[in-house]
Amino acid sequence: MTEPKSNENVTVVDNTTGKQTTFPLLSGTAGAKVIDIRNLYKDLGYFTFDPGYTATGSCQSAITYIDGDEGILLYRGYPIEQLAEKSDFMEVCHLLLFGELPDKKQKDQFVWDITHHTMVHDQISNFFRGFRRDAHPMAVVCGVVGALSAFYHDSTDINDPWHRKVASYRLIAKMPTIAAMAYKYSVGQPFVYPSNTLDYAANFLRMCFAVPAEEYEVNPIVAKALDLIFILHADHEQNASASTVRLAGSTGANPFACIAAGCAALWGPSHGGANEEVLKMLNQIGDKNKVGDWVKKAKDPDDPFRLFGFGHRVYKNHDPRANVIRKAAHQVLNELGVNDPLLEVAIELEKIALEDEYFVKRRLYPNVDFYSGIMLKAMGFPTSMFTALFAVGRTVGWIAQWNELIEDPSQKINRPRQLYTGPTSRDYIPVDKR
Ligand code: SDX
Repeated sequence: MTEPKSNENVTVVDNTTGKQTTFPLLSGTAGAKVIDIRNLYKDLGYFTFDPGYTATGSCQSAITYIDGDEGILLYRGYPIEQLAEKSDFMEVCHLLLFGELPDKKQKDQFVWDITHHTMVHDQISNFFRGFRRDAHPMAVVCGVVGALSAFYHDSTDINDPWHRKVASYRLIAKMPTIAAMAYKYSVGQPFVYPSNTLDYAANFLRMCFAVPAEEYEVNPIVAKALDLIFILHADHEQNASASTVRLAGSTGANPFACIAAGCAALWGPSHGGANEEVLKMLNQIGDKNKVGDWVKKAKDPDDPFRLFGFGHRVYKNHDPRANVIRKAAHQVLNELGVNDPLLEVAIELEKIALEDEYFVKRRLYPNVDFYSGIMLKAMGFPTSMFTALFAVGRTVGWIAQWNELIEDPSQKINRPRQLYTGPTSRDYIPVDKR
C-alpha cells in the first residue's frame, strides 16, 4: 500500500490570528476527497472535533466502497447485487482477503484450506461449560473467540505474513463452529463436529441443527439463503465493529483478540444487534393493523422507541443489501412454505414508514437488518442467534481490514484527542479542609 498522492490542497484561514495554512487534498479512486490534516496541530495548534468520526477518514482502504447517497456497495469493485446473484461466500471471502475473485484452482485450494481449519482445539469445548446455559450466544462468542489466542500461538506474530494468513483462515473457518457450539450449548444439545464433506453454509446448518439420534439432511434452499446472508454481511467499510478491530490491531494486539473486540462492538443494538431487535420489535407490534401506532411512537422525540432496522449512518438513500434480502426473504418463505405474520407486519411497517414525512425527511430507509431476521427465523434460528450469524459473515471483512491495517506503512497506534471541558489545574485539599 502506498501513501495517497495529491496535487490539490485546501487553505485554512485562522481568523483569530490571520494565519493561513495549506493542507493537501487527497483523492481516491472513488468517493469523497479527504483533507490530510496530519500536520494540523503542528501547524495551527488545533485538533479537529468530530464526535463519532462521521466526517473523518481513519485510513485508506481498497476493500469496500459505499456510496450512501446512491445506495452503492462494492466489494473490491464488484457490486453487491452481482455477487449476491452470481457468487458464493467462499469466493467473496477470497475476493475480500486477496483483492481478486479466485480462478477454479485457487478457489478449490482456498475452500480446501478453510474446510480443513473448521475444527477447534477440543479443550476449547471446556470454555462453554463455564457459561450459564441461558447466556446470550454473543456473550459466549466474544469470550471464546478471545480465548483462541490462548491456543493458536503459532499464528499470533502479526509481523509474519504466514502467521497472518493462518490466523485469518483459522478465524474464518472456526467462527461458524464456535457460533454453532454456542447455539448447541444454549439448547442443551451435544456439540456437532464440522464435516469436511459439506460447504461452508451447509456445514454451519448441520453443526446447529443435527442431533446424534438421527441423520440430518441439509435443505439446499436454506443453505443457499444462508450463503447469501453471509455474502451480504461480509464487509462494510469502516463501520463501528471494523473500526474497533482496526483500533485494537493498531496496538499490535493479536488477530484473535482484535476479532473478539469486533464481536463485542457488533453486539450493540445500534449495529449488528439490530437484527435481533427488529424481531423483538415486530413481535411487540404483533399485528399489521397496529403498525401506525408504533410509527407514531418512533417519531415521538420524547419516546425512546426507535424503529430497529431503519436508518443508517451512511446510507441516506436505500441500503442495497436490504433490497436483496427483501427479495430473498419472500422467496425463502415461499419455498419453505412458511407463512409468517411478522412478514406482513414488516411489509406494512416498511410501506407506512417510507410514506411518512418524518422518515422521508430524515432519509430513514430499511437497512440490512430489517429483513434478515425474518429470513433467519424462517430458517430455524432463534432470535438470540441473529447477531452471532452476523459475526460469522462479518469475520472475513474484519480480518481483511485487519490485514490491510498491518500492511499499511502509514498506520500507527490509533490515539484520538479530545476537547477538554473538565476542571483546570487545582491544588489538593486535605480531607479535614473539604
Ligand atoms: C448496521 O455502519 C455500518 O455500516 C453498519 C452496518 C454494517 O454493515 O456494518 O450497516 C450494520 O449496523 C445497520 C444499522 C442497524 N441499526 C439499526 O437498525 C438501529 C436503528 N437505527 C438507528 O439507531 C440509527 O439510524 C443508526 C444508529 C443506524 C444511524 O444513526 P445516525 O445516522 O447517527 O442517525 P441519527 O441517530 O443521527 O438520526 C437522525 C435522525 C434523528 O432524529 P432527529 O434528531 O433529526 O429528530 O433520525 C432519527 C433520529 O432520532 N432516527 C430514527 C431512527 N434512526 C434515526 N428515528 C426512528 N427510528 C430509527 N430507526
